[in-house]
Amino acid sequence: MEMFNKQNTLEMRKKLIGHSCRLFYSDDPVKIVRARGQYLYDENGTRYLDCISNVHHVGHCHPAVTKAATAQMELLNTNTRFLHDNIVHYADRLSATLPDKLSVFYFLNSGSEANDLALRLARQYSQNDDVIVLDHSYHGNLTSLTDISPYKFRKLGGQKEWVHVAPLPDTYKGRYREDHPDPGQAYADCVKDLIEEVHKKGRKISAFFAETLPSVGGQIILPSGYFQKVAEYVHAAGGVFVADELQGEAFCPDIVTLGKPMGNGHPLACVVTTQEIAGAFTANGVEYFNTFGGNPVSCAIGLAVLDVIEEENLRGNARDVGDRLRGLLLGLMAKHPLIGDVRGAGLFIGMELVTDREKRTPATAAAAQLARRLKEELICVSTDGPDENVIKFKPPMCFSSADAQLVAQKIDHILTDMNSDRQKTSGHV
Ligand SMILES: Cc1ncc(COP(=O)(O)O)c(C=O)c1O
Repeated sequence: MEMFNKQNTLEMRKKLIGHSCRLFYSDDPVKIVRARGQYLYDENGTRYLDCISNVHHVGHCHPAVTKAATAQMELLNTNTRFLHDNIVHYADRLSATLPDKLSVFYFLNSGSEANDLALRLARQYSQNDDVIVLDHSYHGNLTSLTDISPYKFRKLGGQKEWVHVAPLPDTYKGRYREDHPDPGQAYADCVKDLIEEVHKKGRKISAFFAETLPSVGGQIILPSGYFQKVAEYVHAAGGVFVADELQGEAFCPDIVTLGKPMGNGHPLACVVTTQEIAGAFTANGVEYFNTFGGNPVSCAIGLAVLDVIEEENLRGNARDVGDRLRGLLLGLMAKHPLIGDVRGAGLFIGMELVTDREKRTPATAAAAQLARRLKEELICVSTDGPDENVIKFKPPMCFSSADAQLVAQKIDHILTDMNSDRQKTSGHV
């Protein structure tokens, strides 16, 4: 295949690809031609440190994963209507990582497909229609999911009558903050009140959908006890709790959807639920068929990803390196008033920039500038949150302590520069 120079690629992309598919760094996009571990290489061989590709969970192009994919591709790739060992092995391995109650698996190709199926399961089981979601959440690109994603529907046709939005439990700048005696209970009570309002309208709840670690909402860590309380209220209303990704706190939802990182870049996703919910879905008599979902190649890849996580102790690495990075960024707060908050769990980390710590005013322009300057230093991060003022870190789990050190050092230098530029323009020097 012909290799275009970067400018040609950009021109052809502008001509041929829908413009709503956006590029990172649109004013000067990066063309990546290969990757390994936590590193991306452009067409000139320049190496970028990747702090945002959580999809490439165990590291880009991990040799054990590509080997498993190639071996299975050479042997067989069919669909789930034939008996095959890979799908049952994979479901069995996943089940060992989940609470006992979550014991029935459906395999699909994307997080969106998984959430769409979760919605169908919840509605079939509860026989209700309405859905509660958290503000600023994103659950996928299908019509059914833009409908339940405030992050999208606010810019589209607006909110459907069957969708109800609960406040995002953001204890940094939300309604109840870290100084509240029990923010988990307070935010859960907002869901309880919302359910009462829904009932007053003569409507009924089928599901509460939430990301366990809300990302587009600004890398939020939910207050403890929140999910348990919400599940209690949602169950009492006849609905089910759907967790879009399951991470963190010991808590058992009724349906879990697992997406992108499972396949390390290969399209692979999964819905896991209880016998009761799956039974109600089967009872409707309609087959669930997904041509590619759960095929032998996808499952071989999923199994290889699980092997690598265990063999390379990547969960331990994510915890240790995540703690290190968070510690380094927290250390920078004393020097840089622009850093209002640093939060995270493992390698899911957010650094929120503010122009005023007291008022927590979003420093949106500074966040964009920092991300741009980090790219010039060959480090890829992105911004997120309703005000795009949160620097987001979601690197592959093989991210190292040295990478964390480098990132913190570069951030320190850039923020020092940005501060002296600001002082010069305001005449303070
Ligand atoms: C929390 C969450 N749910 C669902 C999706 C949709 O997944 P996909 O893009 O694989 O369809 C995404 C994708 O960004 C996501 O972040």
